[in-house]
Amino acid sequence: MGKIIALANQKGGVGKTTTAINLAASLATLGKRVLVIDADPQANASSGLGIDIREIDCSIYECLINKAEPKEGIHGTCVKGLDIIPSHIDLVGAEIEMLDMPNREKIMRDALAPVKEEYDYILIDCSPSLGLITVNSLTAADSVIIPVQCEYFALEGISKLLNTIKIIKSNLNPTLDIEGFLLTMFNSRLRLSNQVYNEVKKHFRELVFNTVIQRNIRLGEAPSMGIPVIMYDAESTGAKNYLALADEIINRNNR
Ligand SMILES: Nc1ncnc2c1ncn2[C@@H]1O[C@H](COP(=O)(O)OP(=O)(O)OP(=O)(O)O)[C@@H](O)[C@H]1O
Ligand SMILES: [Mg+2]
Repeated sequence: MGKIIALANQKGGVGKTTTAINLAASLATLGKRVLVIDADPQANASSGLGIDIREIDCSIYECLINKAEPKEGIHGTCVKGLDIIPSHIDLVGAEIEMLDMPNREKIMRDALAPVKEEYDYILIDCSPSLGLITVNSLTAADSVIIPVQCEYFALEGISKLLNTIKIIKSNLNPTLDIEGFLLTMFNSRLRLSNQVYNEVKKHFRELVFNTVIQRNIRLGEAPSMGIPVIMYDAESTGAKNYLALADEIINRNNR
């Protein structure tokens, strides 16, 4: 049975999509079967994995709203073992369309159930919001990775996110776990990065991944080529950091 992990933080630009793409590619490189769900209408994970979203007939939108079979939405990528259900700009309207659907918080969970067994890991890239699609993603998930950017105000909004997770746990998904806090865009030469690291560690202790994602220009360049960093520059710090994260997650989960 695959483990579903959501990448969530309603703060924008903290590295959710970069992590979805590159953790997924690293897990696949280590021999796991991986599916990315692009649950953000911005569709950055889709384009970053080489999908031309203008040519997609069946996206996560059709799976959620039109009850399309998830298999129809699955697209291969340039990485062996890595598939994606892309997003579509139509997803912007999906939250309104879901409002009067029965069990509106569980639509993603039901949609993914038929493919859960075919993958070892399913990573859901959430949008920077705590709206209904993110609630659906957290309800479908077994755990959540919270990327935290090593910047000013890094912890701003985290308590709101943790409160949302708590509410989802008590009402919709009692077994939802925090997989870990992931520090991103770390720059060891900056005192600020080290301060943020220490502060997050002080608050969340063993919930913080040992692996830290350093700031690395290759991570910003790879998406414009539609490939993960491991295919763009396998020797880069970014590629090495995400491989280490994949390894840490595999070891923690022993799967
Ligand atoms: N470790 C890193 N080093 C350098 N650049 C990075 C790193 N991580 C992310 N970036 C860049 O920072 C920007 C924001 O990252 P990303 O899109 O992954 O964040 P996000 O949380 O998904 O954003 P949004 O909330 O808009 O969905 C992107 O331009 C990305 O290329
Ligand atoms: Mg994103």
